[in-house]
Amino acid sequence: MSSESSTDVDHLASTNEAVGVVQFSSLEDRDAHMDGNSSRRAEFDDSILLHVENLRKEYRSGSQPLVLFDALNLTVRRSEMVAIVGESGSGKSTLLHLLAALDRPSAGDVYCASTWLGKLTPGQAATFRNREIGYVWQLHYLLPEFTALENAAMPLLARDQPRSAAFAKAQELLCEVGLEARMHHLAGELSGGEQQRVSLARALVTQPSLLLADEPTGNLDNRTADAVFGLLERLHATHRLTSILVTHNMEIAKRCGRTLRLHEGRLHEVRLHGSSSEGAFPQVPTASSATPGHPIVRTEFPGGNAGTA
Ligand SMILES: Nc1ncnc2c1ncn2[C@@H]1O[C@H](COP(=O)(O)OP(=O)(O)OP(=O)(O)O)[C@@H](O)[C@H]1O
Ligand SMILES: [Mg+2]
Repeated sequence: MSSESSTDVDHLASTNEAVGVVQFSSLEDRDAHMDGNSSRRAEFDDSILLHVENLRKEYRSGSQPLVLFDALNLTVRRSEMVAIVGESGSGKSTLLHLLAALDRPSAGDVYCASTWLGKLTPGQAATFRNREIGYVWQLHYLLPEFTALENAAMPLLARDQPRSAAFAKAQELLCEVGLEARMHHLAGELSGGEQQRVSLARALVTQPSLLLADEPTGNLDNRTADAVFGLLERLHATHRLTSILVTHNMEIAKRCGRTLRLHEGRLHEVRLHGSSSEGAFPQVPTASSATPGHPIVRTEFPGGNAGTA
């Protein structure tokens, strides 16, 4: 082995350690670690990017504990685009925070590729997010006094990447989202749709594997929302992403490969079909499960009415 490849291996090992990747010296070692645990097995099924098992989240700020999820399960395969819909307050943003290791569950496990989020220290969680997750916030959280280019480059600068390389990559992404003419404008001077394009560029500048988008079109008019979602669809394909998108917009949910409705702490698969004129969505669960072994209830959901919340 050359000294260069040995350095690469050392670097990979230290990076993996930084994000809590579980590595094994032999298959026996791996099987002993898994010890019949199905979620651990999912860690090693390469077609699965995300696996959530028995997730519970409760808040204890009021007089009564607020239980948002209890035994919530979810499996997402690589390159899937999944929409999550649900009433306001059902816990959609909280779920995305847990998937991004921005918050900790009260119980249960989240695995992203070979990373078990439950064992990450806060520092490892930050490294994991910077390496694996692209996050688009509903309220974009751009820094208004910085340019579009500086905002898009921010995650790479936070990694201590050289400024020239960070800005070159950010420029590439801003061109991809059609903002080459606005690169040096302050973020605070951009329109809502342009700001959301910058936040897409910022989310993808690190080449993440998982894109989590919390109502990315929520504050946009229909035409701009359609354009931003079209862009997101293109980026999903060209960047080979796995994407989870929270939306209240049923027309957008329909264009995703799978739609899950968060209701009373569980994810229910919904089938969107027909036109929006077919009527309001029924909530009649049937017994089948969305992914073998994972109890996601399937719900018929005709029509494209955006009236979930
Ligand atoms: N830190 C917290 N402490 C206590 N309760 C919280 C906390 N964060 C969220 N909640 C509560 O959890 C519930 C779910 O909040 P969340 O923001 O996840 O909902 P949501 O489905 O994203 O809603 P929306 O569609 O309005 O964005 C809400 O009732 C909220 O008040
Ligand atoms: Mg929310």
